[in-house]
Amino acid sequence: MSDLAVELCAVARAYQEAGRLHPVLQGIDAAFPRGRFIAIRGRSGSGKSTLLNLLAGIDLPDTGEIAINGQVINRMSERERTLFRRRHIGFVFQFFNLIPTLTVAENIRFPLELNGIKGAAATARVSALLERFSLADRLDSFPDQLSGGEQQRVAVARAAVHTPALILADEPSGNLDLETGQQVLGLLRSLPGDSGVCVICATHSNEVTALADEIWQIEQGRLVRR
Ligand SMILES: Nc1ncnc2c1ncn2[C@@H]1O[C@H](COP(=O)(O)OP(=O)(O)O)[C@@H](O)[C@H]1O
Ligand SMILES: [Mg+2]
Repeated sequence: MSDLAVELCAVARAYQEAGRLHPVLQGIDAAFPRGRFIAIRGRSGSGKSTLLNLLAGIDLPDTGEIAINGQVINRMSERERTLFRRRHIGFVFQFFNLIPTLTVAENIRFPLELNGIKGAAATARVSALLERFSLADRLDSFPDQLSGGEQQRVAVARAAVHTPALILADEPSGNLDLETGQQVLGLLRSLPGDSGVCVICATHSNEVTALADEIWQIEQGRLVRR
């Protein structure tokens, strides 16, 4: 198995806009090892979300290759990519995106269900994360009964519960106050240490700079190491 969580080779992506091609990512080459916390910086509109969606296999590059965990995802069928994403990727969004009809414990358990992990094994993993993320007293609450910070802690637990190879966080503190945002970033920062997951965190601000093992910046469609 490759010791790289992510490899990008000559990845380009453009959007059609009013009949014209608008290039966003123009030839991105990068490799991210396991067990690292990677910050992707760039101003608003620079292509951070576009890049994360490509890494998640939600979107496809126009040209180039993307390997996650040593497997080239852009050559998979849509069905294969969906199954691959369920098993190997976790996602944290700016606006939490929890399932409103499920409790905290059920939201965190959901990726395990999708991967066929049930019963006591699933319960033990969920309990450990509830404890670690200070959510044990909220396990039966629904998302709309939680603060923003609590919702994002649930989202981070949900992204990590199935021990993915890669966790993608798209401006995870963008909708939180500074202190609450730092708590959430601290939890994301702690994940590579125990499971060897690679965490990639996109942000338009400098707040993750001090936490990151590697800082990369999107500038004029290219990804540059800082
Ligand atoms: N689905 C889409 N269709 C057309 N243009 C898009 C689409 N998604 C993003 N864009 C454009 O691509 C550029 C990069 O967007 P995005 O990746 O969301 O940037 P960031 O996340 O860094 O703010 C922007 O100019 C945006 O308007
Ligand atoms: Mg974005």
